[in-house]
Amino acid sequence: MRKNELIKEINRLKKEKRAVILAHNYQPEEIQEIADFVGDSLELSRQAAEVEADIIVFCGVHFMAETAKILAPQKKILLPDLRARCPMADMITGDDLRWMKGQHPGKKVVAYVNTTAEVKAETDVCCTSANAVKVVSSLPEAEIIFVPDRNLADYVSRNSGKKLQAWDGYCPIHEEIKPKHIERMKKKHPGAEVWAHPECRPDVLPLVDRILSTGQMIKEAPKSGAGEIIVATEVGILHRLRKENPDKKFYPAREKAICKNMKRINLKKVYRALLLERPEVIVEAGLADRAREAINQMVRLA
Ligand code: 13P
Ligand code: SF4
Repeated sequence: MRKNELIKEINRLKKEKRAVILAHNYQPEEIQEIADFVGDSLELSRQAAEVEADIIVFCGVHFMAETAKILAPQKKILLPDLRARCPMADMITGDDLRWMKGQHPGKKVVAYVNTTAEVKAETDVCCTSANAVKVVSSLPEAEIIFVPDRNLADYVSRNSGKKLQAWDGYCPIHEEIKPKHIERMKKKHPGAEVWAHPECRPDVLPLVDRILSTGQMIKEAPKSGAGEIIVATEVGILHRLRKENPDKKFYPAREKAICKNMKRINLKKVYRALLLERPEVIVEAGLADRAREAINQMVRLA
């Protein structure tokens, strides 16, 4: 099928099956263009819970689809390619976290939403990149377990004054954005501001002007006085930034910052998922209940 026909069929099936398409800000352009809603992890979780639909085609990575299922257990959640997983989320298992809790008895656990349902079920409160500092700051404890992102933990610790026992996980895409890339781009575009995602390395963050989640980047771009912005995160975000701010220039800090798991989703797979109503993401009910408690606690605190 040609691209136009695929899009037509996707729209027809969406109507017929009361389905909506949610897409993360890092998704390929063709997916962002057909999505009903594009956003960051937090915004997509909210949409999944609130949107009126029988089926959600989740265009993102597995932990995001799982979070959608946890928050909307009555909806059918489809992930067009089950291999689209987040390597950082897979750096810690439920067993790992149980072991870590044993090493720090009595300590509260904050888990980045980039974790499996099994890890969330062992967690007191979740956070996203948009609210991590707020969530950690709102806890009365001075020392907290934080998983799985060591870079986000470092950033949150500096901004909350809390001591965090961090798991040694990281996002391979953000980890590869090095100070030399920022310095090179600053030299090339001396008038530009530099924005970075908090998953970036601790030696990169001091070199940038603003530290923002992907959703915050989208919201702040139209308000910013800067005409040129260097963006240190996955390059998929540039599509929306450029489309919604045609008067501004956006440059990737590193052109090769591409999350290949995010890019596993394409129009053909979305069409097949809608047609066959699979692959479906299922979360065992008991696990989902425990994981939901940690997500709801985030919503209460942030
Ligand atoms: P956001 O919550 O900022 O969209 O980040 C999700 C993610 O996977 C970043 O790599
Ligand atoms: Fe995971 Fe990094 Fe890809 Fe985000 S960009 S989904 S954190 S691997």
